[in-house]
Amino acid sequence: MAINVNEQTGFFHLQTANNSYIFHILNNGELEQVYYGKKIHDKSAFKRLTTHEYKNSTPSWEMNEDVLQPEALKLEYSGFGKGDFRYTAYQIESNNGSRINEFQFKKATVSKGKKRFSNMPASFSDDDGNDVQTLTVVMLDKLLNLEMQLAFTVFANQDVIVRSTKFINHGNHSVELNRALSMQLDLPDDDYDFIHFSGSWARERHLYRSHLRPGIQSINSLRIASGHQHNPFFMLARPKADEDQGEAFGFNLIYSGNFLDSVEVDQYNTSRILVGINPDEFGWRLNPDESFQTPEAVLTYSDQGMNLLSQNLSEFYSKHLVNPRFANKTRPILVNNWEGTYFNFDDQKLLNIARAAKSLGIELFVLDDGWFGHRNDDHSSLGDWFVNQPKFPGGFKNMIQKIHQMGLKFGLWFEPEMISKDSKLFVQHPDWMIKTPGRKSTPSRFQFVLDMTKNEVIDYLFKTISKIVQENGIDYIKWDMNRNITEAYSNNLPADRQLELAHRYILGVYDLYNRLTTKFPDLLFESCASGGGRFDLGMMYYAPQAWTSDDTDAIERLKIQYGTSYGYSLSMMGAHVSAVPNDQTGRVTPLSTRGNVAFYGNLGYELDITKFSEKEKQEVADQIKFYKKYRQLFQFGKFYRIKGPFEGDGNIVSWAVVNQDKSLAIAARYKLLNQPNWGYERIYFKGLDPNKKYHVNDSSEIFYGDELMNAGYFIPQMIHKNENVELLADYSSRLFIIKEAK
Ligand code: GLA
Repeated sequence: MAINVNEQTGFFHLQTANNSYIFHILNNGELEQVYYGKKIHDKSAFKRLTTHEYKNSTPSWEMNEDVLQPEALKLEYSGFGKGDFRYTAYQIESNNGSRINEFQFKKATVSKGKKRFSNMPASFSDDDGNDVQTLTVVMLDKLLNLEMQLAFTVFANQDVIVRSTKFINHGNHSVELNRALSMQLDLPDDDYDFIHFSGSWARERHLYRSHLRPGIQSINSLRIASGHQHNPFFMLARPKADEDQGEAFGFNLIYSGNFLDSVEVDQYNTSRILVGINPDEFGWRLNPDESFQTPEAVLTYSDQGMNLLSQNLSEFYSKHLVNPRFANKTRPILVNNWEGTYFNFDDQKLLNIARAAKSLGIELFVLDDGWFGHRNDDHSSLGDWFVNQPKFPGGFKNMIQKIHQMGLKFGLWFEPEMISKDSKLFVQHPDWMIKTPGRKSTPSRFQFVLDMTKNEVIDYLFKTISKIVQENGIDYIKWDMNRNITEAYSNNLPADRQLELAHRYILGVYDLYNRLTTKFPDLLFESCASGGGRFDLGMMYYAPQAWTSDDTDAIERLKIQYGTSYGYSLSMMGAHVSAVPNDQTGRVTPLSTRGNVAFYGNLGYELDITKFSEKEKQEVADQIKFYKKYRQLFQFGKFYRIKGPFEGDGNIVSWAVVNQDKSLAIAARYKLLNQPNWGYERIYFKGLDPNKKYHVNDSSEIFYGDELMNAGYFIPQMIHKNENVELLADYSSRLFIIKEAK
């Protein structure tokens, strides 16, 4: 049993394969968090763990049978204003202006599996026997007749617990949700490092690690998108924990809008974690008989370091989050014309690129921005999703047919949520744009945002996008989103419900995704937001892959992909080889290194392939052949971080993927700046079977797995004949193919 409920003692014990999560009902009917960590034996009660000591100068709920002082309790999901002075998970305002709630335990039910949500991305389990169970704890505020359902789903095999909350108003009056986070977790001490993934456009998800300190530390978004700046995924790890040992908790949110991840270290050195919709710029009116469902928070714990934590999450995503149609399906190798042509293309140029791509083994041609309206730069036409005819003198459909006839799939770029003032759509529907009455509207990339809370907007987008897909047999859509929302106001909502806009906007985006993915179940979506500005689990539910970053420089990509790998899977990351000097950094890196970095994800090429020399064409054809041979491993293997770009001087980076039965692994080692006459270097492989015998790069010598992992593999500076000469320059890289010896 994954969930044990002891009705007599009021203890709940959630167990995954290796973790325990325990809470219980307090005398006053609220819930107290007891333990989350490495699995422990089940008992009817864990009394000692709930011993309460009297603290001076703090309010008390009870002083008789037990000492219940809210500030000194580790609470499961607490409310504002009754003596818990930390930031709390919810705040609900009743129609007399009160913000106090008294939720008491009413009942708990355990059910098999996990149902999807109808209007939002969510984890799911259709049939996993007893390995996936959901506990729903019903709490009731009697005065308001307001129900609060706390849901905990245990995904036993992946050591993952998913939490969310639903409020249901059974009362006669409406209430206002001022805060409604997805989870709260109170840990008993504060000896953790807060590890998060932050950055900017073209510099996404760099790792930052700092020890917790008293007070609140948080990352968030108020952009109505998860953002380039902070990712909703973060970890808390013991200071000595690293990739391969030590305790670490991971938290993520299945949501794409404003979020808050905060950790508050209080006066008793406990740590309160809150994850959910950012309470700033949020409010929700809940009328009688209505309910509000928070997005889901994903929790995981590993006592064997962060590699295992990431691997567990990856498995969880592929089994319980990503659309099953694509979750384990290998992804096509693509060519995208963006960096190759930008807006400067016509059908002939595209056909030439497609022909060259096909001859090198590429499988999908993606036509990026500029094919619609009269868009020849980024000033116009967003919203006009019909063909920019002058660019296709031979006909748009005709070009796509030719590309299909070549044996390539065809993909197309859209930016559905946007509107340009220079567009037919704006002339017809100026009121569809998000803007605040009487105030200026701030442009970003010369564009504005459609009000996705409006059904007529969703209908228009669904109709126009469907038409293009159907008429032309589109196989793939790159759904971009290139600006954040300012002057947020919706003329679709009354004055006193404007705080609902941010969440309703995201629900509108999900609605459109839902309608399109239902109508075109085989259409592969890649999400994008100026690169990785909306790289989150909400998007991954509909679009199984995302454009990781607009930065295609291989060296910058080491940091971006390394950072991203902590909270996401390789098959989620779009990784492209682009031209040199690189458009974002001006850096010149060897083609081999550009390939060796892009292999660890969904490989693509983003340049004008027709400009390759014969030698480069051969090299790319070889790269593609190689990737196809090992694609399953690169996209779905277990990823191991070996040496990170955020450690030390970051000059050497290495990582590896290993297959299920450990008979095959491919490790990579990248060296940024070359050095003359440096010391001896070894790479310590990970994830191999210690008892298996292996060959490395087809050498005849045999190595045991334990030797390769513990004694390491020597990397000579001297280049042997058949090895890559670029090793002697800056930005060199090497791959190690480790195969079980037969
Ligand atoms: C964004 C995307 C790019 C490209 C351009 C097109 O920046 O991240 O990949 O699609 O838009 O305008």
